Order: sequence, then structure tokens, then C-alpha cells
Amino acid sequence: MTIRPLDIDPSLCFIAGAWVPAKSGQTLPLVNPSDGSALCDIARGSSDDIDSAVAAARAAFNGDWGRATAVERGRLMSRIGALVLENIDALAELEALDVGKPLRQARADVVALARYMEFYAGAVDKLHGTTIPYLDGYTVYTLREPHGVTGHIIPWNYPMQIIGRSVGAALATGNAVVLKPAEEACLTALAFGELARRAGLPAGALNVVPGLGAEAGAALTAHKDVNHISFTGSVGTGRMIQQAASTHIVPVTLELGGKSPQLVFDDADIDAALPFLVNAGIQNAGQTCSASSRILVQRGVYDRVVSGMAEKYQALRAGPAMDDLEVGPLVSGRQKEIVEGFLAAGHDLNVAAKGTVIEGAPKGGAYVAPTLFEGVSPDHKLAQEEIFGPVQVIIPFEDEAEALAIANGTDFGLVASVWSRDGARQMRLARALRSGQVFLNNYGAGGGVELPFGGSGLSGHGREKGFEALYGFTTLKTVAAFHG
Ligand code: NAI
Ligand code: MG
Repeated sequence: MTIRPLDIDPSLCFIAGAWVPAKSGQTLPLVNPSDGSALCDIARGSSDDIDSAVAAARAAFNGDWGRATAVERGRLMSRIGALVLENIDALAELEALDVGKPLRQARADVVALARYMEFYAGAVDKLHGTTIPYLDGYTVYTLREPHGVTGHIIPWNYPMQIIGRSVGAALATGNAVVLKPAEEACLTALAFGELARRAGLPAGALNVVPGLGAEAGAALTAHKDVNHISFTGSVGTGRMIQQAASTHIVPVTLELGGKSPQLVFDDADIDAALPFLVNAGIQNAGQTCSASSRILVQRGVYDRVVSGMAEKYQALRAGPAMDDLEVGPLVSGRQKEIVEGFLAAGHDLNVAAKGTVIEGAPKGGAYVAPTLFEGVSPDHKLAQEEIFGPVQVIIPFEDEAEALAIANGTDFGLVASVWSRDGARQMRLARALRSGQVFLNNYGAGGGVELPFGGSGLSGHGREKGFEALYGFTTLKTVAAFHG
């Protein structure tokens, strides 16, 4: 297989501006989750390839790339964004085949990737230091400088969006990047490398090394010449990455998912809320770090919300990505097993409604029927743990205090939303919710690239997206000049 229309061989790594095989010569199979068929082989990168990629990044950082001005970097980001949009059809198709994402959702991810490039292109020459009033005879100012070589380990659920928010911000601020995409889905990461090359990004400024987490991923996080690590993925792997980074005292940004609640009060506009309540749970088949998997509903509107959501669930169809239905397959047979394990653990719960897997969905595909549970106790496993599938639980509550206690009653803290017409309640809860983002009478606000994003607790730490990411991918130097 070649990645069309870019004509790149997906079994290669992108290192120092060139397409090269893994040094071991080994490859891994990539599977199409819509039918279980083999898509192509990808490189099985190892520590040898990571060493080459880090060396190439270091050379770029010490060379032309490190000397590029903010304006020059911004122009490059703009060109990459334009090329991404020119190739929207090809990129969306690759993502749909690789991740199993319905085509429309894959297209939205391409647009988001381009938007990240546009945003950081326009923002990076507005990143200023400050001057600090100090003792007589001194002038003190700060400089924002890139970390150097940044390592990016990304998951399979939103490759393009996560490349946009982490690699985009890192390149804009002048870091040199080594990207390790997920072994389950890495075609758009490879395509992005090629588009960046065609846009004129200097060799070595971006390197892409596919491979297994325990091999290429672990080698990148343990590398002594990597100056910052950005990771999105599971809590368990996040823990290992933070530990690995501690060896060389390297800063890490961890985005580890969540158990994000929506709080629906008696005075809410229920008709406005219903599409958000459901979509936030089933987008990308629920394999979304900011998926809303807990719906907390006040007693007075409980029956109405349950029946409204149930009606929407009954209309949900799961089928192949290219059929572009509401729900695609999960990314892999393994992910399907994880989600089926959760469904089995919910055997004691009331099923409010189920969607359907369409007739004729390929037998080898990783399909799960969307499932809505109601009347769930806040301490149930399905109300506490990240499921990462098209599954939501509805939990009843009496009053605001109870809603808040339930909402904050998990180990996560990524996203939350409040549906209510009471302005004072909105303000109280926006402050009291333990969550990196709070939405009032919406969920996700369209996912804008401008909006800082990240969590607390098991959801991780550090912020990506928006202007905050530019601070995260730079380090601050204080210069104190004595001139008398
Ligand atoms: P994972 O966290 O193991 O994989 C994510 C990335 O980390 C991949 O690129 C993988 O190769 C890499 N990785 C794995 N082990 C590593 C190691 N020791 N050192 C360095 N890199 C390593 O997640 P996985 O196994 O794909 O999914 C399992 C669960 O994790 C899902 O069911 C879901 O609950 C959660 N998850 C959350 C995501 C989010 O967006 N927050 C994304 C993907 C998974
Ligand atoms: Mg894994």
C-alpha cells in the first residue's frame, strides 16, 4: 500500500527529513477495524530508530531550525495548515480506515488539525516576555525559549487533533519534535510528516517513528537528550511515563482521559441539552478523552431526560467507517473486549436503551451496540472508571450539593458541563467543579483549538491547546542586567 496521493510508504519512519526503514527491518501489521482486514505494515521502531530521530532533532534544533524567527516559524505553520486542508479527502479517508472513525468525524479532525496550524501560526509571534521593575540600576526581563527536543507519544483515538495541539504548539515555539504515534493507528501521523516536509519544514525539525509503546515509546521517554514529553493516553501508561521522565528530570504533560459529567437541573432547557448529552458520549464511539460518560439528572426532569436520551439511542447505528453512520467500530478487537467487559460488569443495571449494529456489518469488525444505563449508583464501576466505548450512565440527584458531590466524586477531573438557567448556580458550580474545562449550557463548545485543555487528578496535568500550550512548550529565562 502507498499512502495516496502523497505516495509515501507506510512501512517507513520519517527521520531527518527522509523516509527510512526501521533499523531492525521489522514491521507491525495495521488492521482496519471496520472489517478486521490487514491494511498495511508499519515500521516497528526501536530504541535505535529513536536514537537517530532524537539526534536528528537535536541537530535541527542546534542548526537552522533553532535559528528560525517566530515569524518564519509562523509562516511554515501556515503552509502546513494549507497543505492539510488541500489534502482533506485523503487524510479523512486514511483516518477513517485506520481508526474506524465515521468519515464525517474524520473530516472534522482534518479541519481541526489545520485550525491548530493556523492558530499557532498567528499566535507565536505574539508570545512575549515581560520586564520586571527591580532594584535601582537593574533592568530585568524574561525570555520564552523552546525546551529543545520534545517527545510526543499520542494515542489512536484522535491522531490528527492531538498532533495539532501538541506537535503544532511545539513546532511553533521552535522545539524539534520526535513523534511516536500509536501502533493501532499511525497513517495520518506519517502523512503529516510528509506534508510538513513539503511545506518546507527543515529536516529533523519533525521526526515520526511508529512502533510499540513498550519499545519505541519507552525508548523516547527514557532518552536523556529529550527535554519535554507530551503524552495522551491511559492512566497506567501515563504513570510509567512520568516515572521514566523522572530519571532525567524532564517535564511531562499528561492528558489521561476522564469520567466527565454533565449536570442537568430541573430548570434546564432539556430539548437543547438532549443532543449534547448523547453526542458527547458516542462521538468517536465513545473513545474520546473528554467523552461525557456520566449524565447526572435532577429528579424533577429525570424521566424526561431518560426517555429523551433513550429515543436518541434507539436511532443510533453502528457500522463501517465508510458508511458514515453515527457510530463506527472501536479501534481494535482488544478495545472491543475492554468495553464488553464493562458491559458485563453492568449486568445488574437497568438498560434504558440500546442502539444497533447494522445488519451486514462485517463480522471481523470491532462493533459494540451503543448502550445507555439509567438509575446507576455513583459508586458503581461503570460510574467510576473510564469505559472508552459508546456507553453512558444516567445518575439521579436531589439537589445542587448532591450533584456537586457526585460530579467531583471520581479520581478524574477533565471536563464537566452544567445545564441550568440559574446564573448564580452556573457561577457557583463553574468554580466548585474539579475539572480542567467547565461548559455552561453546552458541552465542548465545538472543541475550539483556542480553548486551553487538560485535567487534574488521574486526568493528568499540564495544558494544551490555546495560548497556554505556547507557555507549556517553552521555558522561561530571567535576565537581570546591572548597568548602574
Ligand atoms: P496506551 O496509553 O497504552 O497507549 C497510548 C500511547 O502510549 C500509544 O502510542 C502507545 O504506544 C504508547 N505507550 C504504551 N506503553 C508505553 C510505554 N511503556 N512507554 C511509552 N509509551 C507507551 O493506551 P491503550 O493501551 O491504547 O488504551 C487503553 C485504554 O487507555 C483505553 O481503553 C482508554 O481507557 C485509555 N486511553 C485514553 C486515551 C485518551 O485520549 N485519554 C487515548 C487512548 C487510550
Ligand atoms: Mg497500550
